[in-house]
Amino acid sequence: MYNKMERKIRASVPAKVILFGEHFVVYGKRALATAINRRLTVDVSSREKKGYHVKIENIPTFGIEMDLEVGKEDRDEKGKALLYKDYENATKAIAYVRESIRYLEERYGAGEGGVEVEIKSQIPLSAGLGSSAATCVATIAALKEYFGVSSDLEGIREDAHRIEKAVQGDASPVDTAISTYGGYVSVEKGEVRRLRLAGLNLIVGCVSSIPLSMGIDTKKVSELSLKTKKIVAEVKGRKGIFKSIFDCIFDAADEITVQAIRAIEEGDFIKLGVLMNINHGLLDAIGVVPRGLSELVKMSQASGALGAKVTGAGGLEEIGGVGSVLVLPGESGERIKTAMEIAGALGMDVKTGGEGLKIDAV
Ligand code: MEV
Repeated sequence: MYNKMERKIRASVPAKVILFGEHFVVYGKRALATAINRRLTVDVSSREKKGYHVKIENIPTFGIEMDLEVGKEDRDEKGKALLYKDYENATKAIAYVRESIRYLEERYGAGEGGVEVEIKSQIPLSAGLGSSAATCVATIAALKEYFGVSSDLEGIREDAHRIEKAVQGDASPVDTAISTYGGYVSVEKGEVRRLRLAGLNLIVGCVSSIPLSMGIDTKKVSELSLKTKKIVAEVKGRKGIFKSIFDCIFDAADEITVQAIRAIEEGDFIKLGVLMNINHGLLDAIGVVPRGLSELVKMSQASGALGAKVTGAGGLEEIGGVGSVLVLPGESGERIKTAMEIAGALGMDVKTGGEGLKIDAV
């Protein structure tokens, strides 16, 4: 039996890519997502001072460290914390950690005492690879384990989804399901289903997060951390204006996911690639593809990829078009990665279907 005060809990979760159906899934359409072999780790341990100290490091090109304090005005008459202070820009970057802590206290009445939360990540920030959901799942899982709140995986997934939604406004359960379960999941009308499908070798191309030369510009970081929220809201606005057109696009996207799952089951990579290209076209139609990501997709297709598409939320021109594309490379992997490098993007080989949440006492 461990003494809570002496142990360190480590939760580790995978990054995700959405293969098909991002954005459309927010409105109940089907999506297919999978874990990839890049991970985020949260360590929770005790510290002598009261309150939470949060350290986020080696997320590619980004790091931040701070105390999370409770303001007097944020306590009820018994002195219990109601809400953590808004630290403006800097804390928006760690909004997911802050909300996890608030949620733990409110939902489970746990969380008193001095706690160190340390996050290490191989997942580029705001690149559409699920860094936000990974943070929510790993943080709430580590905190629950640390404070002895018993939970199964489904409980952690649900908690993390609520936390992500509280920060982002709208969020489908896709990202948190993948970080929790790993493997593949499909989501339809908000229902998560785990699928057994063979692993794929893909390339992810990132128009990178924050250039190292910028250092930690908290305003920029905060804009990036809320990128998904902004793009999802913009799609909602356009959908409201062009409802009948968007309805057709959304139905087509739904059918693409169904056919794509079949293509993976049948090992039909030619068909899978074409479906990726069509899905990309629909994402462009709803306005989430900035120029840089569009160029990466076209360049990959021209270099011999079987298929290429934006993955995740897409990007916004005004914050540098940061985001990612997903490529089914066929025989042209090296050529595609070289072309990505020349274009200034980060090209990563990834394997799909990786392991989900792991919790250890270390
Ligand atoms: C973000 O990775 C995917 C979106 O579909 C939003 C969501 O599903 O919550 C854009």
